[in-house]
Amino acid sequence: MERTLARDIPEREGKEVTLKGWADTRRDHGKLVFIDLRDRSGIVQVVLKEEITNAGEIRGEDVIEVRGIVKARPAGMVNEKLPHRLGYYEVQVTSFTFLNQIRGEGIPIPIQGDGYEVNEETRMLLRYLDLRRARLQKNLRHRANITQFIRNFLAERDFTEIETPILTKSTPEGARDYLVPSRIEKGWFYALPQSPQQYKQLLMVAGFERYFQIARCFRDEDTRGDRQPEFTQLDLEMSFVEREDVMALNEEVLIAIVEKLYPEKKIQEKPFPRLTYAEAMEKYSTDRPDLRNDKNDPNLLAFAWIVDFPFFEKTDKGGWTFTHNPFSAPKEEFMEDLLARKNIGDILTSQYDVILNGWEIGGGSIRNHTAEGLIAVLNIIGHKDPQGFKHMFDALARGAPPHGGIAWGLDRLVMILENEPNIREVIAFPKTGDGRDLMMRAPSEVVKEQLDELGLEIKKESAKKKNGK
Ligand code: AMO
Repeated sequence: MERTLARDIPEREGKEVTLKGWADTRRDHGKLVFIDLRDRSGIVQVVLKEEITNAGEIRGEDVIEVRGIVKARPAGMVNEKLPHRLGYYEVQVTSFTFLNQIRGEGIPIPIQGDGYEVNEETRMLLRYLDLRRARLQKNLRHRANITQFIRNFLAERDFTEIETPILTKSTPEGARDYLVPSRIEKGWFYALPQSPQQYKQLLMVAGFERYFQIARCFRDEDTRGDRQPEFTQLDLEMSFVEREDVMALNEEVLIAIVEKLYPEKKIQEKPFPRLTYAEAMEKYSTDRPDLRNDKNDPNLLAFAWIVDFPFFEKTDKGGWTFTHNPFSAPKEEFMEDLLARKNIGDILTSQYDVILNGWEIGGGSIRNHTAEGLIAVLNIIGHKDPQGFKHMFDALARGAPPHGGIAWGLDRLVMILENEPNIREVIAFPKTGDGRDLMMRAPSEVVKEQLDELGLEIKKESAKKKNGK
């Protein structure tokens, strides 16, 4: 018999149905066993008479199939809190089978609650169980709704979704690279992309004009609540645009996401207010101030743009480094100084950051679409290997349109919209603070043959390996 989902039960009153799912909780009332059966759509109460074979054996998280008749619950037994009016009905079971019975001790972590109280390491180690909890199911389903919404929104505006390589070459975004050894060319390495920055610019040179990607980025930096070694950007780039065009489009998408998917939330100010970097630092001593009027309101969203950042800052060694992105163009009025390498500390970049409730959720800029600008930036920061950018210089000299773009930290945006305290709560399989996937046990040793094949030798073993962890 065809499977019915829990959420469709209210339409089947009086009918026979087959349900499949997990035994969420179990209550015994004399001759009756009550099971909350959970599937991807919700939870429905099923009632088994004790004489039904094996009914007494059902334990939490067993996978079961039940057949029975949908009945309205007696007035006093209604649970108004369940979604889809599921609390008004129950299924009186005529037969049931185990599809998979829990072995051993049972489920080692509680999954009915929100899970904040459960030890973080245990949650990560048993992530496939942790993800069963309603809160994480909701977070990931809402995250999927957001990416789907973005895809539709951008596709309607003539954007093309294009994938770019993961095995690539180091590109400076300010963090350490993850490296992957080449087997064929021993001693050579790919780098995992810190962002698709160069590829998206090359797609503009290639004439796509409007690109986006839900892109995975990799940065070997210390993990924090708002930082993971691999994270997701909504990355986009547009040709023949100015700063205002990119900002306007992004503001439109962000507002649409909130209004369509989070109608209970209120955007504090529209259009988003703008602050210069200097104003933000002077008034709030940070370039990502929390501008909410009422910080106790979980449904208040204070978006803002921060603009006019200095392009360069002094390094400890007395040289210069870029503050955001070496591929950015300066604001137009500073182009002469950039090309002349003069008044370096005063040059402002075209960079715009978008902030939300005290978090930086995105940043972008108009790019140097001629080689001279990029060469000047690399000169000023004393980049060790400007020849490594020969493909960019060449591409910019071969008909590159004016272009600019942005990338959002998608994990951060979802975290804030879901009122979560850190991005691990909106990522299916996040890493721990020390960059490990406890469940998969990654990173891990590899066998000697693999190292030999790659021409690698380990000079220093990790302390964890030495200690046998
Ligand atoms: P940027 O480096 O500012 O810009 O990154 C864009 C946004 O990505 C988010 N982010 C992170 N989220 C989680 N974990 C991390 N480790 C992490 N690092 C960054 C932030 C940030 O605002 N190529 C440029 C974009 C461009 O100019 O178009 C870039 O990557 O929310």
